[in-house]
Amino acid sequence: MTDAATPQDVLGLLTEAAIFLVVTVDDGGEDTARDLLADLSGLTRAVGFRGPGDGLTCVAGIGAAAWPRVIGGDPPSGLHPFQEIAGRTHTAPATPGDLLFHLRARRMDLCFELATLITGRLAGAATVVDEVHGFRYFDQRDLLGFVDGTENPTGAAAAAAVLSDEPGFEGGSYVVVQKYVHDMDAWNALPVEEQERVIGRRKLSDVELSDAEQPANSHVALTTITDDDGEEREILRDNMPFGRAGTGEFGTYFIGYAAHPDVIEEMLVNMFVGRPPGNHDRILDFSVAVTGALFAVPTVDALDGLADPPSPTPATDGSLNVGSLRRSDAS
Ligand code: HEM
Repeated sequence: MTDAATPQDVLGLLTEAAIFLVVTVDDGGEDTARDLLADLSGLTRAVGFRGPGDGLTCVAGIGAAAWPRVIGGDPPSGLHPFQEIAGRTHTAPATPGDLLFHLRARRMDLCFELATLITGRLAGAATVVDEVHGFRYFDQRDLLGFVDGTENPTGAAAAAAVLSDEPGFEGGSYVVVQKYVHDMDAWNALPVEEQERVIGRRKLSDVELSDAEQPANSHVALTTITDDDGEEREILRDNMPFGRAGTGEFGTYFIGYAAHPDVIEEMLVNMFVGRPPGNHDRILDFSVAVTGALFAVPTVDALDGLADPPSPTPATDGSLNVGSLRRSDAS
């Protein structure tokens, strides 16, 4: 990573509140979307300064179909449309998404204010296809009741896990989001000891099950992956619970950052297809993935730079080749 490349706030910590906005850019809305992305760091500062110490951050991601339309130029090499993963029993669907906005703060009002500014700027140019408001649930627990995020890498290991060193995309990242809804009746019908075998950790203490106790189809077993040298391949997760008590919606918004999407994709194949195939993640017997999308996360510098008008293509006739200054226009 060069000194000039400032990553977006992908390394931010879990907060009390978060909003996840996924939008599609309408035909003709590309310039508006680009202008917003260029102004995003300024908008975030404007709202965040009103709540000093409450840590408002916003990370923007760009989907494969939107990159040529909104950003232009070659996309980073790992960017592609999210591929549906169909196992024998469970499927991870691919759903629309051109832009992702991941807003985090200690207070929901800061997230909400920034989300309002973002959607206001995109009005008439983009369509919000998913909006999820996530909240902290006791001591970083998901709605299944387990502490979520414990094994996230920290410090230098986190930076190495999520920041790309691809030439031209140094300091960038990739992010996968999936919205899961839980079958709480089925989950609550399981004895706690059985729930612990689904997740792979103790529910109250959060301690990992021993190798002897750990089932091959637990969530922890299937999301622990290593490279050819035996080194663990890690991602950074910022999952948040969400829900609506009155309508019986209980969910986990999964969001995982990585330096290359293949790390997350390998975990998803393990979960949905199984390792070995058929040995799927038991968490899926109680959780349905209803969305799925992949985005590239450019650096702050790359987004701020979208404000600069594109350099004019050099003309072969010696004119400036800019609008009315073209020689043919002047003659
Ligand atoms: C670990 C919950 C989906 C990747 C965990 C843990 C919990 C949890 C409770 C154990 C504590 C921890 O280390 O954080 C959930 C829920 C999900 C979900 C409720 C959705 C229903 C996913 C997905 C992925 C993933 C889709 C990746 C594609 C991981 C990884 C770990 C983990 C890498 C750490 C494994 C280890 O090294 O011990 N998750 N998770 N999770 N999860 Fe998930």
